[in-house]
Amino acid sequence: MDQDIPIAERLPTDSAVRLQKQPLYKRWAIASIIGLGCMAGGVWVFSRSTEPSAVAEAVGNPIAVPTENLLGHLPYEEAPLSELVPVSADGQIQLRRAAAERFRAMVAAAQQEGIILVPLSGFRSKQDQDYLFFQVKEQRGQRTSERALVSAPPGYSEHHTGYAIDIGDASQPDTHLSVAFEQTPAFQWLAVNAARFSFELSFPESNSQGVSYEPWHWRFVGDRHSLQTFYKARQLNVRSAK
Ligand code: DAL
Ligand code: ZN
Repeated sequence: MDQDIPIAERLPTDSAVRLQKQPLYKRWAIASIIGLGCMAGGVWVFSRSTEPSAVAEAVGNPIAVPTENLLGHLPYEEAPLSELVPVSADGQIQLRRAAAERFRAMVAAAQQEGIILVPLSGFRSKQDQDYLFFQVKEQRGQRTSERALVSAPPGYSEHHTGYAIDIGDASQPDTHLSVAFEQTPAFQWLAVNAARFSFELSFPESNSQGVSYEPWHWRFVGDRHSLQTFYKARQLNVRSAK
């Protein structure tokens, strides 16, 4: 049937008709010119496609493995317990060693300016998060989507990594874990200085994950592993959203 034939092949084009009217030697010459043109074009396309960025695309970015997100949250592995060290006086709040070191330095720098940063929550196991997500959700009578705006499901919290920490202002405990924290001297100080210690806000206003604004939740991105942990996950999220 005519409809089964690609439109371009159903009728000869004007130029194809004109070519058929030419003597054989002219047709051969024209065909050769077209052939050479195609080869040159092919070489140009190939040379462009072997530029470094294109090579990376072609061989596949080693971190671009498809993954999931759950209610806007990305999957994270639990830090090994042997990697965790305390950052609170009572030893209950822990971070990975590299993050803990920079966190302590940040606390000391803030203190020199009269700001007391308080660690409120650091590493959390999947079991801890299980309680925070499901039990607290039931206690508050929240729907799943509502709970996910403020809390990650177990397996999907940055706190599992040992790189994330909730920070408060010792002078204003009533603002702990609340958006009002952004009005405190501690937050103002962090907004200006946290990057010097490789901490960044995970959930700024209107973040791409759709998680509620959390001015108290900061993550360490100051070494290769922490950077990969967070930016690998984000890149995957962007790619899988396409
Ligand atoms: N509050 C953040 C989203 C968490 O639960 O990890
Ligand atoms: Zn947090």
